[in-house]
This record gives sequence, structure tokens and C-alpha cells, in this order.
Amino acid sequence: MNFFEKVIELPPDPIFGLIMAFKADSRKTKVNLGAGVYKTADLQPYVLESIKEAEKRLLEEGANKDYLPIDGLPGYVEATKQLVFGDADSRIYGAQTVGGTAALRVAADFLREHGYGPLYLSDPTWANHTRIFKDAGLEVNTYPYFDPKRLCFDFEGFCNALKQMPEKSIVLLQGCCHNPTGFDPTFDQWKEICQLMEARHLFPLFDFAYQGFGVEPEQDATAIRHFVQAGLQCAVAVSHSKSFGLYAERTGALYLVCQNGVEAKKVGSRVKMVIRGLYSNPPCHGARLVSLILHDEELKGHWLNELANMRERIAQMRRVLVDLLEIKTTRFDFLAGQLGMFSYTGLDQGNVERLIAEYGIYLPKDGRINVAGLNQENVTYVADALLAVTMN
Ligand SMILES: Cc1ncc(COP(=O)(O)O)c(C=O)c1O
Repeated sequence: MNFFEKVIELPPDPIFGLIMAFKADSRKTKVNLGAGVYKTADLQPYVLESIKEAEKRLLEEGANKDYLPIDGLPGYVEATKQLVFGDADSRIYGAQTVGGTAALRVAADFLREHGYGPLYLSDPTWANHTRIFKDAGLEVNTYPYFDPKRLCFDFEGFCNALKQMPEKSIVLLQGCCHNPTGFDPTFDQWKEICQLMEARHLFPLFDFAYQGFGVEPEQDATAIRHFVQAGLQCAVAVSHSKSFGLYAERTGALYLVCQNGVEAKKVGSRVKMVIRGLYSNPPCHGARLVSLILHDEELKGHWLNELANMRERIAQMRRVLVDLLEIKTTRFDFLAGQLGMFSYTGLDQGNVERLIAEYGIYLPKDGRINVAGLNQENVTYVADALLAVTMN
């Protein structure tokens, strides 16, 4: 008997499939604008110097490899809490997780167990969101986010959708640098969203994977801090993959903002059981590095500088791209208003297919580009190709 006879092969994951196709392309002019990974001006992977220094210190300390607690390294959880919320509020329960992905999944399991749902995602959103939440057994719906006519955040559409959602729905919000559009609500819009959600008893689940990629980390946390200060209970799924360049170390955290410390303890006990069943406890290396950096003023300053350099290189490449396109058309002017690693270009699937086939420029079919894949050498080539596939 063949137990796997009926298994039907699926196509590769869209983003990881794109990476494989890029690697297999032999054209010298090829450009990778696909996966959301930061690249240096030489288009190389970037291990931050502050991380290297922390690794050196860790090695000297000779930390052991015993299991961490189910909810991770306490010093890391506290330091990340401080970074996100600005203080060590005892109403907030925190757990270290296996990257931001597991933080979202753990939150989803906990919320579903307690009768919350359905869950609403922005349209469009990060490609993996739907799978994470469906696998957690939640009904997944969408709310309007990007206005394809006005090429901006669809605030009105979003608010109208909030008004229709049933009580106890979970609304996934991206705290800053929205993936894939690059458009965030203004602070005044966040305030209105917060009021509406409170009035309609909707549960905010923040996905916070790009702190410090839009503006200073403190400022990128403004929306989340506003919800907390306004007294809302909410969840925040944090990823340090991008801001510390710790992609492969799976370094994340989940926070649940409760009404008081007693409630936070109860909530923590349930979250720990979710984690125990999913992956038992998190890995130690990335969390030790982040904890070391955030507890050492000098290392922290070094990291903040490196983060600012990444942010500035991305912003600069976006400006150069927009300037080059602007010479020929106003069609792409809206890119200038975007923040963070991604730009939603408004390209359709046909445009994207041509970029890949004719130019070896790789991006997902929704037309999102990773701006960190651009540098001074390839940006003119990319701008010309964008113009060619949209104007001819
Ligand atoms: C919006 C968003 N949320 C969450 C994640 C997950 O991050 P991690 O790699 O830490 O699991 C990503 C990663 O690309 C992302 O773009």
C-alpha cells in the first residue's frame, strides 16, 4: 500500500518560488525585487555590526543550550516590550515566539479558543496571512485597504467595513510600513480607527514586523501606543527579522494588552499552553542577541544607527526610482508617499510577467517591489523596464 498515493503536488510558495526562479536565471542584468529581505547597496545580505558584536560577547559568556521557558527569555521579552510600548506596563503579557509568524499563529489560536472571530485582513495583505489564520481555524475575510483608482489608502472604505463587522471580530492591523502597499493611515486616521473599533467591540491584532523601517522606532510605534493609551485591549505580534536582520534566527514576540496584571497572568497561562502544543518553547540565539543589544546603551546606539542607515538607503532608492519615472510619466508619482521596504506599483499580472520574462526583474504578481533590491547600478534599468511594460 502507498500511503501517499493521493498526495497532489502544490506549486512552490509564491515568494520562495520567485527566489528559486531568480537564482536559476542566468541573465547578468537580472534584478530580485521579490522577497522582503534587506540588501546592502551591493545587494548583499546584511549582518548588522551590532549583531556581530553581540555574538562575540555571547560566545565569551559561553551561554548554555538548555531549553528556554515556554514563553522565552524574560530579559528579551521585557526589552522588546519597552521598545514597542515605551514602558514596562504590567498589564501587558509577553511571550517570545518563533519570529513574527508564530506570534500571529499563537495569537490566532488563543483568540479562537476564547470565541473571537471572524478575522479580517486588509486587501491586499502579506501573502502568508491568510494561511496562518485559516490554519488556526479562523474564518478569514478582508476589508478594503488600497484604493486602486486614487492609488492611496482607502480610509473611507476601511471605516465602512469596520462598521459592518460583527462584535468580537479580530481585525489585523499592520502597525507601520504596510506590506505590500507601503501606505499607512495618518495618526488622525489611526485615532478614528481606534475609536470605531472600541465602539464596535472589535479586537485589534497588530502585526508589527517593520519597526524602524518607516521612521524612528519610537515613531513607528505611535499607532500601537495610541490604542494602548486609549485603554483598548489588543494583541501585538512583533518580528525582529527585519529591524535586527535576524531573519533566520526566528526572533519574535507576542504581547497581549490586558486590563490589569491579574488578567495578564491568566492570559499568560493560556498562551503558554498554546505555545507548548505548537513548538514547546522558542529558540535562544536571536533573543539573546536582541536582549544584549537592548540592555547595553552603546550597542543599542550602534543598532539604532544601523537601522537608520537601512531605512535611509531604502528611502533614497525609492526617491531615485520615482525621479527617474517622473521624467516620462506621472503614473508612478504615488510611490513617493509610501514608507518602508515595499512599494505597491499598481502593475498588473501581465506587466509583472513581462518584467520577469523580458527583463529578468523578479517580483510577485501583485506588483509589489522590495525597494531594498534596488541600487545605483540597477535602478535605471528597472525604471526603464517599468516604463516599457506599462507604456508599450
Ligand atoms: C507583514 C509581515 N508580518 C509578519 C512577517 C513575519 O515575520 P517573521 O519572518 O519574523 O516570521 C512578515 C515577514 O515578511 C511580514 O512581512
